[in-house]
Amino acid sequence: MMETVHVGLGERAYDIHIGPGLLSQAGELIAPLLKRPQVCVVTDENVARLHLESLRAGLASSGVKMEALVLPAGEGTKSWPHFERTVEWLLAEKVERRDLVVALGGGVIGDLTGFAAAVLRRGVGFVQIPTSLLAQVDSSVGGKTGINAPQGKNLIGAFHQPALVLADIDVLGTLTPRDFLAGYGEVVKYGLLGDADFFVWLETKGPALASGDEAARIAAVKRSCEMKAEIVARDETEQGDRALLNLGHTFCHALEAATGYGDRLLHGEGVAIGCALAFELSYRLGLCSQEDPSRVRQHLSEMGMKVDLKDIPGDLPDADALLGLMAQDKKVVDGQLRFILARGIGGAFVTSDVPRETVRNLLAEELSRR
Ligand code: GLY
Repeated sequence: MMETVHVGLGERAYDIHIGPGLLSQAGELIAPLLKRPQVCVVTDENVARLHLESLRAGLASSGVKMEALVLPAGEGTKSWPHFERTVEWLLAEKVERRDLVVALGGGVIGDLTGFAAAVLRRGVGFVQIPTSLLAQVDSSVGGKTGINAPQGKNLIGAFHQPALVLADIDVLGTLTPRDFLAGYGEVVKYGLLGDADFFVWLETKGPALASGDEAARIAAVKRSCEMKAEIVARDETEQGDRALLNLGHTFCHALEAATGYGDRLLHGEGVAIGCALAFELSYRLGLCSQEDPSRVRQHLSEMGMKVDLKDIPGDLPDADALLGLMAQDKKVVDGQLRFILARGIGGAFVTSDVPRETVRNLLAEELSRR
């Protein structure tokens, strides 16, 4: 049942294992990488309650001992104070250069723990055990690690590839439908950016996938990871093509900033809305047919996801203010906003050549429908 995707990064290459029951197999999967049979695990309170003892048992069955640090759940944990606490705990646990640190959790825990591993003793290895769909298909793969700064999200960090990723499909069963669908926003993104056949498959299989079909979940996580692995192997540090993974994210980051990075709009929900806007913008710029944005929106609606700005509760700033927030995106180069646009479903590309007025008009129209 277990599928494996290889991330071909030379001496930093690693495997992503995807399948059910991987927490209980964690010991046999991790032990070959260990120099001594012990690991330090960083997790959060919610994940610890649901999965920490399964991981402990899975490690113990291969004779691997673990110590755990349980942090508060939520985006606020991706910050200096919790980072300091994590690094100091790992030092107190006497983690050595050749040990592995394990991140058990969603994107917040994965990013924070990966960054702690990147700087501890100038770099120790780490294993990602992502427990959200978003983390399984995106944040646990590719080595982006870091924390948030008061000035913005993910502004402090390092590229540090994991030594192994274990995506246990069973843990997705403990997600709320809203969290699952937010992660699904990133899955759809892969079809939209580079694999039209995958998008067609999702149009058919999406509902079964959301209601728990295990084979469909494994296939979707595998295809997403394959696409991410292929792009990361080509452009590890985002000098070019890796930016394709940011389809929908220029709009998303502005909407997240406008809504306070919280419960009003989850990251994956913002990605889905952002993808719909990116396709609408591509159509308005004459790059793709009118049918493409309609298909994107229809699939997201059929999945019960947020699609439009009007689906975001509460007030939003006006089009100029949203444009101002977009200009703070990390993808800005020489003051020029970079967009990921598409010549059709599966045909995304990176460009700075987007008239500001077209984006402004699109946002203003979308806001007027609220
Ligand atoms: N989440 C986008 C990337 O890893 O590049």
